Amino acid sequence: MRCYLHALLLCMVFAFLSLLYVFNQLASTLEEPGEWTVRKAHRTADRNSHDTGHAVRKAPGVAGHDRERSGTTFKENRDERIHLAVVACGPRLEETVNMLKSAVLFSKKPLHFHIFAEDHLHDSFRSALDSWPSLVQARFNFTTYPITFPSENANEWKKLFKPCASQRLFLPLILKNVDSLLYVDTDILFLQPVDEIWGFLSQFNSSHLAAMAPEHEEPRIAWYNRFARHPYYGKTGINSGVMLMNMTRIREKYFKNDMTVVPLRWEEMLMPLLQKYKLNITWGDQDLLNIIFHHNPESLYVFPCQWNYRPDHCIYGSNCKQAEQEGVFILHGNRGVYHDDKQPAFRAVYEAIQKHPFGENMVNSLLLPLETALQATTNTYCGRASHLFTKRLQQSIKDAAQRR
Ligand SMILES: *[C@@H]1O[C@H](CO)[C@@H](O)[C@H](O)[C@H]1NC(C)=O
Ligand SMILES: *[C@@H]1O[C@H](CO)[C@@H](O)[C@H](O)[C@H]1NC(C)=O
Ligand SMILES: *[C@@H]1O[C@H](CO)[C@@H](O)[C@H](O)[C@H]1NC(C)=O
Ligand SMILES: *[C@@H]1O[C@H](CO)[C@@H](O)[C@H](O)[C@H]1NC(C)=O
Repeated sequence: MRCYLHALLLCMVFAFLSLLYVFNQLASTLEEPGEWTVRKAHRTADRNSHDTGHAVRKAPGVAGHDRERSGTTFKENRDERIHLAVVACGPRLEETVNMLKSAVLFSKKPLHFHIFAEDHLHDSFRSALDSWPSLVQARFNFTTYPITFPSENANEWKKLFKPCASQRLFLPLILKNVDSLLYVDTDILFLQPVDEIWGFLSQFNSSHLAAMAPEHEEPRIAWYNRFARHPYYGKTGINSGVMLMNMTRIREKYFKNDMTVVPLRWEEMLMPLLQKYKLNITWGDQDLLNIIFHHNPESLYVFPCQWNYRPDHCIYGSNCKQAEQEGVFILHGNRGVYHDDKQPAFRAVYEAIQKHPFGENMVNSLLLPLETALQATTNTYCGRASHLFTKRLQQSIKDAAQRR
């Protein structure tokens, strides 16, 4: 019994002392507001230093962390736009604007144009795109960029092939915040929504990081297998005029190569590659891409020729089987055929898109005039295949009319 009394007493003493301590603390904080400030300041500093540490750890791109933390916000913030890039130098302004026009005419998702151009062209691009009707402008945004190269080798890169053609190799390093990108040459015309080719990204398996079409369908008349003095992809090489990239993967991948035994990152690989092959390459950066995917074939998704349809597919006879079945999806007027009289069927498509006034009925002001113009070309090699040029376009025009 005595034992219990003792314990009770002890508890009471302890409780009393605790109360006294609490009051004392309270009194001291009321008396000295300064101390709060100091403590608060200290805590703020603490949080800051914690954040800095966090940011530093995050910086090298631990993407998994973000994804894990914000499963839902990640979805909300996901970029639903299609990113389309082009590099325009010299007298390519008008052609580039026509390419962008074909993109915006048929596409469904919002577009973002990344326009790399010589400085003196920037104003012209801006005023051309700003002159489009506001309903059309509501479907895209654009950014203009100067042509830039890694400073230490700028001159070497500029000399390679055409002045700015090798710019495209650096897009994954310049557009660091863009996940995926469709790069096209200026002489591309979309005959169906850009959304369709963008859709290939979701068909990539885990090793694919870029998609392109073969350079040729017919090895007997193809270039790489007959003349190239460097490795190239597959049987006939690849054409880089329409190039879809998951740049997140390009930035993360270590590429096998024939310069060192260790795999190299994209940015580490480009200059040694140029140094090794500069005397042997003919088509500039397309050759470098062929060398890269020769050594890393599992990384390339190859789409068929109607996604990059060139004069080569019709001037030696029709050799793009898929276009014969489904029509041409993306027209690539290389060899200058939009601007001379060598392949008037290509030129007819270019001019039909250029002359179509935004907002007018596309059947009357685009499709019908084009069909008339193509009928006058049926005595030429590509004119004979010209029904392929409108096959898919008809459908695209019908669909776009229904949407808008
Ligand atoms: C263009 O940018 C503006 C401002 O950031 C944005 O509100 C708009 O949705 C964008 N349009 C498209 C088509 O992405
Ligand atoms: C360049 O071409 C020459 C002649 O075909 C060949 O001997 C040489 O090995 C090639 N260089 C490289 C780096 O492949
Ligand atoms: C690109 O690849 C990254 C990494 O694998 C992936 O998280 C991202 O969703 C891919 N982008 C598209 C558009 O598929
Ligand atoms: C992805 O597909 C390519 C063929 O396009 C193939 O070589 C590669 O092995 C595939 N990768 C995986 C992980 O299945």
